[in-house]
Amino acid sequence: MMVFGLEGTAWNLSAALVNENEVLFERNATYIPTKGGIHPREASQHHAEQMGKIVGSVMAYVRERDLRIDGFAFSQGPGLGPCLRTVATAARTLSLRFRVPLIGVNHCVAHIEVGKWQTGAEDPAIIYVSGANSQILALRKRRYRIFGETLDISIGNAIDKFARTMGLPHPGGPKVEELARSAKNYIPLPYTVKGMDLSFSGLSTAATEASKKYDLADVCYSFQETAFAMLVEVTERALAHAEKNEVMLVGGVGANKRLGEMLNIMCQERGAKFFLPPEKFMGDNGSMIAHTGLIMLNSGAITPLPQSYIRPGYRTDEVEIIWA
Ligand code: ATP
Ligand code: FE2
Repeated sequence: MMVFGLEGTAWNLSAALVNENEVLFERNATYIPTKGGIHPREASQHHAEQMGKIVGSVMAYVRERDLRIDGFAFSQGPGLGPCLRTVATAARTLSLRFRVPLIGVNHCVAHIEVGKWQTGAEDPAIIYVSGANSQILALRKRRYRIFGETLDISIGNAIDKFARTMGLPHPGGPKVEELARSAKNYIPLPYTVKGMDLSFSGLSTAATEASKKYDLADVCYSFQETAFAMLVEVTERALAHAEKNEVMLVGGVGANKRLGEMLNIMCQERGAKFFLPPEKFMGDNGSMIAHTGLIMLNSGAITPLPQSYIRPGYRTDEVEIIWA
């Protein structure tokens, strides 16, 4: 079985080819905002302009080796409407052209499934942190149930916003992580956990205020320590509630070494096993869509054309995990 996957919910247009065992090929085109954050229409124009080259390179790989594609998977949502539309149109065209099933994939579920594939985690409590999402989940009765999530903006967005006001280039996450390494002092910042839910927007604002008085490296460090401690607290509680003994970190912010380290310490104290996928599978990538498409196809979950409409607000727990 071999599946083509197309991702393009936000900043990265990525096409990949996977089989049961490995990623055969992946090609990416990254949208970098000229100024500020991601602009949905600009991002979709970027994807439209790059589509021919990205898809073409995968198809050239297939042709040269005389391979057969069994399904075309695409990121159906959640994501930015204009970007989703561009991706869905390309995927439908490919599916019709090659008379091969179409598979609409939930982007969040794909982050989780590729993580499991790459780490071998079986039934973990999941911490999924990215630019648009911050969720703590666990599989129960064939759905990834959301135990806790952000009540306002996601952690990635909070870091990116703060970084932008500091004049750092987008995305700010990696830069803030680097600056935090040279910090000398911890500055107390607002810690907001409400039950199982989290809030990050006050933290982002407070960090911006603090930067007027304190060293930027110290603020970056304190921002990370505060936000990650909040996330670890909720993950720890979800681990206990859901009675799991594994924890897996996924999503773009999962590339942050300090977050992984803090989760690992918590897991050691609780006797749980911690799983961290390789970095290239953390941020948005076509392989995660292709892989999830493959397991969906194997369990018969294909998407008829009339149901292939985009789903900008597609929730993780809307998907029935029939392959579990
Ligand atoms: P989603 O739709 O899943 O929310 P996304 O479009 O936000 O996806 P991802 O690639 O999953 O894309 O996540 C991007 C986020 O990851 C950005 O906010 C970026 O700053 C953050 N990020 C990347 N590397 C790091 C890092 N080392 N530390 C902290 N944040 C990081
Ligand atoms: Fe993502």
